[in-house]
Amino acid sequence: MTAVRISPRSSARQGSKSLRTALVTGVLGQDGAYLAKTLLDEGYRVIGGIRRTSSVNPWRLEELGIRDHVDLVPLDLLEQSNVQRTIGRIRPDLLFNLAAQSFVGTAFEEPVYTTMVDGVAVLYLLEAIRSHAPETRFYQASTSEMFGKAVVVPQTEDTPFHPRSPYGVAKVYGHWITVNYREAHGLHASSGLLFNHESPLRGIDFVTRKITHGLARIRCGLQDRLELGNLEARRDWGHAADYVRAMYAMTQRPAGSTYVVATGADHSVRDFLALALQASDIEVRWEGEGRDERCLDAATGRPLVTINPRFYRPAEVDRLVGDSSRAKRDLGWQPTIGFPALVEEMVRADYDRVRRSVDA
Ligand code: NAP
Ligand code: GDD
Repeated sequence: MTAVRISPRSSARQGSKSLRTALVTGVLGQDGAYLAKTLLDEGYRVIGGIRRTSSVNPWRLEELGIRDHVDLVPLDLLEQSNVQRTIGRIRPDLLFNLAAQSFVGTAFEEPVYTTMVDGVAVLYLLEAIRSHAPETRFYQASTSEMFGKAVVVPQTEDTPFHPRSPYGVAKVYGHWITVNYREAHGLHASSGLLFNHESPLRGIDFVTRKITHGLARIRCGLQDRLELGNLEARRDWGHAADYVRAMYAMTQRPAGSTYVVATGADHSVRDFLALALQASDIEVRWEGEGRDERCLDAATGRPLVTINPRFYRPAEVDRLVGDSSRAKRDLGWQPTIGFPALVEEMVRADYDRVRRSVDA
């Protein structure tokens, strides 16, 4: 795979050669796409790091209409020599590390790989910055999963970590090594403790998108039912488009720091499902209890949602809810899209996509 060169369209949008440059690892993921759009809007040249694959799939950049405005470079975080060369060559003004094995369920099956990408590779990036680009401002994508079995609700920057998955443990390392390089080497390095954020661009394995995509397929007759795990798990769900603004704002402060980014309100998976069913115009009734509970189509009695223990986690994070007072105060950040609007947007987007594919 060769680097995709800056295209005439992207040059036109950027307008000048003296643009500030932002490098985004994991640019093809949910946050990468929204962040790339934010950075382009802020006037940056955006270079996106991607890992090698036989077929690059930039569908999220296409959905946001920015595919031709982002330069893609090969940047697998596990190839340290390439990380060094790429950062040394680009010497970006801003570097956002969003690349990760980000699915908590998979982390239990692939703990070593997850630890390397989500933990050790953060050190590769910081070392490259220290050696080749000490003026680069760094953002590390940390996570509420690091709080895990939190005894304090809501969680703040001072809440102790108790991660409950290899993913959370690896991210704790990524967080502390970022803090360490800030303190020991004076880098402008920030860590965002971001709570769950979703959107129509969310990966299909995560519970919110699994629900909205599954219901769209059920409505279009492509799927009979949806199998879920723990309906009582609670999360503080915001919208990714809001959260990437906080990432950018952290890099614009005089010094790097750590910030919680969250809405401050939590909801259960059951709440999300109920709103999604409502937005899909599907009337249901529930029967049974615990793992035998089922959600039936009120009109036909057909099971629409059943419980499959396969989707339970070996160790669960029961209640994550964040207090982002510090981000509000220092970054002037606050969420603009509420929970019902988020669910409705995801339901509508998935229904439109599935409908289009059926009609095609
Ligand atoms: P995502 O959609 O899963 O995107 C992750 C990206 O990382 C993907 O594009 C993936 O590449 C890339 N990647 C994986 N392994 C890589 C490697 N070895 N080298 C280079 N790239 C690699 O995740 P997201 O939701 O956008 O999240 C962005 C970041 O924020 C992640 O670090 C995540 O852990 C963290 N975070 C997310 C949330 C949330 O609720 N979304 C909350 C807190 C923190 P492919 O496209 O090739 O798969
Ligand atoms: N994925 C999934 N699938 N989760 C389910 C299901 C199911 O069928 N049924 C219930 N759940 C519950 C999980 O047990 C979990 O408690 C909750 O739904 C949310 O799961 P995910 O959507 O997979 O997200 P997550 O909270 O584990 O992780 C996401 O948020 C983290 C921030 O707290 C990811 O984006 C991580 O990368 C991120 O760090």
